[in-house]
Amino acid sequence: MYRASPFLISFTLLLSLPLLYLLAPRVFPPLFPLPDTISPDDELDDLSLLRRASISSTASRLSSSSPHPSFKIAFLFLTHTDLHFSPLWHRFFRNHRHRSLFNIYVHADPSANISTPSPGSVFHGRFIHSKRTYRASPTLIAATRRLLATALLDDPANAYFTVLSQYCIPLHSFDYVYRSLFTSLTFDHSAAAYSTQYGVRLQYRSYIEVLNKSSSLWKRYTARGRYSMIPEVPFEKFRVGSQFFSLTRGHALAVVRDRSLWKKFKLPCYSEESCYPEEHYFPTLLSMKDPRGLTYYTLTAVNWTGTVKGHPHTYTPSEISPQLIERLRASNHSESHLFARKFSPDCLEPLMKIASKAIFQD
Ligand SMILES: *[C@@H]1O[C@H](CO)[C@@H](O)[C@H](O)[C@H]1NC(C)=O
Ligand SMILES: *[C@@H]1O[C@H](CO)[C@@H](O)[C@H](O)[C@H]1NC(C)=O
Ligand SMILES: *[C@@H]1O[C@H](CO)[C@@H](O)[C@H](O)[C@H]1NC(C)=O
Ligand SMILES: *[C@@H]1O[C@H](CO)[C@@H](O)[C@H](O)[C@H]1NC(C)=O
Repeated sequence: MYRASPFLISFTLLLSLPLLYLLAPRVFPPLFPLPDTISPDDELDDLSLLRRASISSTASRLSSSSPHPSFKIAFLFLTHTDLHFSPLWHRFFRNHRHRSLFNIYVHADPSANISTPSPGSVFHGRFIHSKRTYRASPTLIAATRRLLATALLDDPANAYFTVLSQYCIPLHSFDYVYRSLFTSLTFDHSAAAYSTQYGVRLQYRSYIEVLNKSSSLWKRYTARGRYSMIPEVPFEKFRVGSQFFSLTRGHALAVVRDRSLWKKFKLPCYSEESCYPEEHYFPTLLSMKDPRGLTYYTLTAVNWTGTVKGHPHTYTPSEISPQLIERLRASNHSESHLFARKFSPDCLEPLMKIASKAIFQD
């Protein structure tokens, strides 16, 4: 009869300890799951929407040909409170001439008591089928995918898809935004996008920040466990950027069609502290799928000076001035930023006061 010596047993145990440590996150569920896991029912429900959007939608409305005048911008609002700046957005959108050039979609967390917009509001009837969202969870990715899928299905003329939140404001008139995205030959400073020779746009790219260097990147990569992201996402491909972007129709489609990266990014994190999946999923996916189709910068100004717990600087009424709008417009990558965040709700009044002269006159 074979009897393992005590030495052998303890030696084997000792050897398996590191192995256990490495495998633990895969084998054992987290002790205290964050309230962020997406239920199988919600997942199935979303999948049916994403499938419909993937199939029914024409891929590249925006190709190399010059844009048709009826191309639209889909404005996707992601909110868990009232849309504080409705009156400002109302002025941004209100010109009747523009009606055929944009669509609005709002994903509003159903647990928040959001007041129904009045029939005269541009947001009236624009709320889509929404689910709860939480910080430090993949629910924000899911909400954005829901918005993209709904907008893809809703109108084949939607050509750019711009994600905004309740804390965002416009920095220019609608005309300026539309011209910058579709017709300007000088807006994007990375000149490869244009053929000046013939005076036409050669390519439409997605405006999305994509960074490959950040001190916290490794911690965020391993937030779901050391080996949780491979093989789909090796660390060299892991990127960070803002979730407030403007995607082309082709890239919006790539996002709703994705299954393999979502499978990884939807896993819950072990610690809330390194868990910002929505800042990684989109830049990682798109830079893997179409590295040449991105500008690598965002059109939404944000102030990270003096950041607290992952929140950027939030502007308060005393800071609002035409000079602030000027400073926020300044961009190293394009003629101007088009949007900005974050603003506290009580900034509405001072913003409305300066809107005609400082924001909408350009
Ligand atoms: C929303 O309203 C309901 C009923 O009026 C209330 O019970 C709930 O606490 C409110 N939720 C929030 C987030 O204000
Ligand atoms: C990282 O980004 C820089 C500048 O954005 C770029 O030049 C470099 O090629 C990137 N590195 C990798 C590995 O993608
Ligand atoms: C950014 O925020 C800091 C405070 O955190 C403020 O001092 C600075 O003026 C802000 N920058 C701009 C361009 O508004
Ligand atoms: C532009 O780049 C310079 C040099 O890198 C930097 O100091 C400045 O803050 C940047 N400006 C903006 C608006 O990002």
